[in-house]
Formats: sequence, structure tokens, C-alpha cells
Amino acid sequence: MVKTHLCQNNIRNSISSKIKRITQARSIYLQMNILGISAGFHDAAATVISPGGEILFAGHSERYSKNKNDADFCQGLLDDVLEYQPDVVAYYERPWAKQLRQWYAGQGIEWNKLTTRQILRQQLGGKIDPERVHSFNHHLSHAAGGFQTSPFDRATVVVIDAIGEWDTVSIWAAEYDNSGRAVYQRLWRQVYPHSIGLFYSAVTSRAGLKPMDEEYILMGMAAYGERGFGELMSQDLVEDAWKIKFKKNLHTGLEQRYLSYISDVDLAAGAQDLVEDLVMNVMHRARGHGWSKNLVYMGGVALNCSANRRLGELFDNIWIMPCPGDAGSSLGAAALAHGGRIAWRNAFLGHDIPGAYPVNAILDHLVDRGIVGVASGRAEFGPRALGNRSLLADPRGSTIKDQVNEIKRRQQFRPFAPVILEELAHQYFDMPRGWHHSRYMQSVARCRSPELFPAVVHADGTSRVQTVTRDGSGIRELLEKWYVMTGCPMLLNTSLNIRGEPMVNDRADADRFEALYGVKVCS
Ligand SMILES: [Fe+2]
Repeated sequence: MVKTHLCQNNIRNSISSKIKRITQARSIYLQMNILGISAGFHDAAATVISPGGEILFAGHSERYSKNKNDADFCQGLLDDVLEYQPDVVAYYERPWAKQLRQWYAGQGIEWNKLTTRQILRQQLGGKIDPERVHSFNHHLSHAAGGFQTSPFDRATVVVIDAIGEWDTVSIWAAEYDNSGRAVYQRLWRQVYPHSIGLFYSAVTSRAGLKPMDEEYILMGMAAYGERGFGELMSQDLVEDAWKIKFKKNLHTGLEQRYLSYISDVDLAAGAQDLVEDLVMNVMHRARGHGWSKNLVYMGGVALNCSANRRLGELFDNIWIMPCPGDAGSSLGAAALAHGGRIAWRNAFLGHDIPGAYPVNAILDHLVDRGIVGVASGRAEFGPRALGNRSLLADPRGSTIKDQVNEIKRRQQFRPFAPVILEELAHQYFDMPRGWHHSRYMQSVARCRSPELFPAVVHADGTSRVQTVTRDGSGIRELLEKWYVMTGCPMLLNTSLNIRGEPMVNDRADADRFEALYGVKVCS
């Protein structure tokens, strides 16, 4: 026991001494707002951080342009960003390194995207002329977006995505130094083309879905599939599951005839099982470094809330920033330029629809019609509606799921999520180990009474739970009053969007939604 403790201390001291050589902090910007940018390739986003570490704004280009996964800045996003007059710009990756990898991958070189300043000229159109420009490593930006918004002083950071520059999986030791600056030491990595994210996207495409977009639909399909094909896929595709090495480059996808004798749901189930095994291998490796039992998990694969339920088997505390993909790295790059801890309060950071949260109007419509939209306050940063751009419904009864699906015109098999008073969540859901709460729908949990809430329970008995703490938010007040009125502490919550479009952003979008679907949207 003593020996183990000493050994862990030695590892920690040795890593600490290395960490001091890798300071990323740039906290010389005492009077300047910092603009973090993720743009030029997919899911363009911007974050503005104040000199004091407050997040002044964080938003997605697609919400303004209505072009899903919009790769580029648009005028609406620029207008909102310009209100904060940033003097420093931080870019989320190193363009020349990415171009080198693209050349290696046979994608050619985009000569007009070789430097950060070239890209900023294209994205910002000369509207912002920063005094200073920085660009950071792609996976380090992911890591910083997680660690510097987390409640932890020290954490093991794991990043798993499809691909940025070269890294596809990375593990970091993170802590703050005596001056409060975040410092990172990379402990392990895997590089292109060996990528968990590229594997999952290849199966997404093979199942007839849109890769780099509809992976969440593949995850939902998995609950209907036969188990057992994950092992077969592993034998076919994986060379070394511990090192995350694949037998072939899946960047170009899987052949359409691959496993064509099984159904798409079986394919989805196999992919989910294999992804979970690979993710847990990475987590075992991360835990094995002995740095910290606090886990910060980032990268697009961290959106797989089914796989995330297992993270507590290895870590005591878990933080997944609600926008862990590349859009969230706009925040990560800004955090690296800032250097210190970022004051994280909630995910309501985007475009503002001013006015008090319309609690009473929402309740009236819920009682009358059972379904109501809400577009109020600042839009969510990240892919999930958390109450400010939501379609809400009474989760009880057997017909509500079909009614909401009819409005959203989406696949009937897909479940909806419950939003619940946090202190009552454990009475209704068996929260997985390590998940003390799930404020941004980061994990699934088994529903204790699925027969009472069929609209928010998936075929496998789980729900993608959103717990709401006493944070003074509008959705919290709404749930409290709904509970007093009905005895039910939860609502069905799904994103407020017109089919094929991103989430509603402003009141004009909400008006279009009302006109198209005949459902009231309260502001
Ligand atoms: Fe990424």
C-alpha cells in the first residue's frame, strides 16, 4: 500500500516537473477580450472570453445561417461577436499541420488555408483586426475547453475525436500552477489514420446516414439491434484494440457490401459495442497513468452518451463540457490564450432573446395542449437544447411520443429526453456510477418506471437524462411549478427546430416554427 502510494507520488512528481516546461498560458491580456474561433472546415463557432475569465458569448454559425454544420462564419454570428470588440484572436488548430496531414491522406493541400491569418481573413472579412493572433494544437484546444471549464484543480484529460491535425486520441495530465495558469502534459496519443471517430463515422455512412452529423442517430438505432456483431467487426477491422490501431484506413469509409447480410440496426449495435470497448480501453490507459481520478473527456466521441455511462467504473468525478466537439474548441482556444480557469456557469451563452422566461405561459400551454415550444434567453452552446430553445411536453401517457414525432417529422424509433429536477432524478432514474448529475445530457441512465414515461425511455430501457440543479434558470423554475401542479418532476425536452434546420436562434425562427407546425412558441 505504501509502496503504491510512493509510486504514484513519483509518477506525479515526475509529470509535474515536465509540466512546468509546457506552459500554455498567455495571461498577459489583462485588458483584452479574447475571441476563440473554430471555423473553416465544419461547425464554425465563436467564443468571447473577458480578461477576468468570464464567457461573454459562445455561439454556432449554423444557428444564424440555417445551414446545418456550417463550416464558415456568417454575418449574424459576426454581428454578435463584434459587440464585444475582441483584441486577441485564438484559432483552434494549426493550419499548416492540418494541411500536411490532408496532403498525407491524399486530400490535397488547400493553399488558401495554410496560415491562421489567411483563414481569419476569409472568416472575419476584415471586420476584426486583432492585435495578436494565436493558433493552438487541435487536441490541446479540446483539452483546454474541458479542463479550464471544469470544477477540478487537477484532472486526467482524454480527447477522442475523428481527426484534426494528426492526433485522434490523446491523454493529458492537467493542473494549475502556483499563478493559476493551466498547464498540460500529453501522456499518450494515437494518430491518423487510427481513429475511433473515423470508424464510427464510416459505419454511420455505411448505414445510409450522414457522416460527421448523424452519428447520434446511429447511436439511437443501436438499442434495436442484435448484440454480438461488435466482436465480428473487431476481428475484421481492428489490429490492436489496446493501442487503438485499425487494420485499414477508415477515412474513406466502409464498402457498402460490408456486413450487408445484417440489418442496419444490427450494424449500429455492433458499432456501438465496439466503440464502447475501444473507449474503455483508452480510459483504462488514462487511469493507469495514476495522475487523477477526476476525468475531463472531450472530442466528438464524448457525445456518445450511451458509452459515457461506463466512465464511472474508472473515475470518481466526470466533466464533459456540453460542447465537446470542434465547435467547443473555439472556447478551448480562447481558454488557452487566456491561460487561467474559465468561469463556467451554464451553457446558455449564445444569441439572446430578451425577456423573462415565460414560465406561466408555458405551463398554460402544457396543461391545455400537452406540448409547447420555448425560445427565451440565450441560446445553448452545444448540440443539445437544454430549455431555452426547446420543445417541451408532458412525458406521461402513451401517445405523446407519436405526437411530438409528428411535429418534428423524424424517425419514429428515436426516443426523447427527460429534463428533471436534479434532487429527484435518482428516484426516477438509476444514475450510473460516477454520474452524480447529468446537467447537459452527457450520459444515459436506466429509467426505474419506464411504463409511466414511455415517451422518454428508449428501447433498451435507458433515457438521456438532463438534471437541473437550483441554478436560478428559467427551466428550473418551470420544473418546480410543474411538479407542484402535477406531482411529475420531469418534462419531455427536445430541440426546437424545423426539420432539416439547426435549432431555432431568434424570434423570427420561432415565428416560422409556429406557422409551420401550429405549435405555440413562448418567449
Ligand atoms: Fe476535433
